[in-house]
Amino acid sequence: MLVQIPQVLPAAAVAECRAALMHADWTDGRMTAGYLSSRVKNNQQLPETHPTARALGSKILDALDVHQTFISAALPLKIVPPLFNRYRDSQTYGNHIDGGIRPVAGTHFRVRTDLSATLFLTPPEDYDGGELVVEDSFGTQSVKLAAGDMVLYPGTSVHRIEPVTKGERLAAFFWIQSMIRDDTQRTLLFELDNSIQALGRDVPDHPSIVRLAGTYHNLLRQWADT
Ligand code: NI
Repeated sequence: MLVQIPQVLPAAAVAECRAALMHADWTDGRMTAGYLSSRVKNNQQLPETHPTARALGSKILDALDVHQTFISAALPLKIVPPLFNRYRDSQTYGNHIDGGIRPVAGTHFRVRTDLSATLFLTPPEDYDGGELVVEDSFGTQSVKLAAGDMVLYPGTSVHRIEPVTKGERLAAFFWIQSMIRDDTQRTLLFELDNSIQALGRDVPDHPSIVRLAGTYHNLLRQWADT
């Protein structure tokens, strides 16, 4: 399932990120790519332990902590601290699959990459190209979102970034190990949760809401790793 999550960061926080990234020490993105990926990857990144990456990454994690749509869609157990990349001058990242396990720099922790996330930081009208193209079980989807919006997609997907032919594209990207490893089960829970929320708004006193919420939590208990 591919989920678009609007307004993870408000405009002021996006502006703060872009100002900090303007003066950052960008390095070749191939430094964090495996052998296969490094052959198709041409972009710039902030090193994982860079103070700016750490500071901005914490802001994003704080925003995600209280973002109901993100929590419902991802059911996060562990999150790799956000990284930052930049594409310009026709830079691109060809078709690849992200590594299945991601070490967290400077720690002994590892995260299973059930979900990949991209948080767009540049308004789409400021650059040409740069779409994130994801091939999943429903076909190919092309994603280019407003600054501050985020997309979540299964870590198992083949994906690419189209060449940025005008302007520059800044984004944060990271991976999530979900309490629900299986994408189908996670999608079912997300849809059930959305339906319960909608029912709660439309018919707040309906007695079945309590039972449906119970079913949601009982499924979570059956399936979740913690
Ligand atoms: Ni990728």
